[in-house]
Amino acid sequence: MGGRRLYRLRHLAPGRFGLRTERLSVPGLPAGLAGFRIVHLSDLHGGRFLGAGDLRAVIAAANDLAPDLCVVTGDFVTHHHSEVLPLVDDLAALRAAHGTLAVFGNHDYKERAEARVAEALAGAGVRVLRNTCERIEVEGGALGVVGLEDLEEGREVDLAGARAGLCPGDVELVLCHNPLGAPLLARRGCIAVLSGHTHGTQIDLPFLRELGPPHPGLRVELGETSLIVSRGLGAVGLPLRVGAPAELVVLELE
Ligand SMILES: [Fe+2]
Ligand SMILES: [Fe+2]
Repeated sequence: MGGRRLYRLRHLAPGRFGLRTERLSVPGLPAGLAGFRIVHLSDLHGGRFLGAGDLRAVIAAANDLAPDLCVVTGDFVTHHHSEVLPLVDDLAALRAAHGTLAVFGNHDYKERAEARVAEALAGAGVRVLRNTCERIEVEGGALGVVGLEDLEEGREVDLAGARAGLCPGDVELVLCHNPLGAPLLARRGCIAVLSGHTHGTQIDLPFLRELGPPHPGLRVELGETSLIVSRGLGAVGLPLRVGAPAELVVLELE
């Protein structure tokens, strides 16, 4: 409990987490997507260090941005599927014109109970994309949001199946928890891959950098596709971040 309170005060209180804006310039962007704003959350890691109410300030900051869409790129829990339950009320408070879409991270498959995590999230209005896509039709076109199962823990990663629901000319955005998948996902028409997983290394000290998952950087250009990696909001191992603040990422299409 002490670790959780400490984490909330140091990393999730107003003014303690980052707000990173990433602009995506898209040639030929449909008129209805000009200025479209996506708020990206990741790696909540419900559990010992994050519980009910701890995301309240973060959710309020997200709502203040009046997003068109919210996305969450996985790791809702840490060790048990039930760790999602205390987060439901906070996530249900997210307000975006087109709602909240998500994918699972490697932690969300604990006990192979990911269906129960998805069910709890559905109760919060969060739609989990599991090798599928959702199209948001706007004036002059559509945004197609593709969501993949996690590369390490998903039973099957079916990119072709996930993309099957896209229509020609859709502006494509991919949600993929693990940024290592991005080079395979980049292609013409795919404006961005949104990932998390690395926590921005969480404790960004030279002698500890090799401990966590490989971190390719916060924004990497892969031809016409930008890989955007969120540092996430929660923590694993220690209720601590050093040089890698919890953050919301805001994507603006122009
Ligand atoms: Fe994570
Ligand atoms: Fe992860």
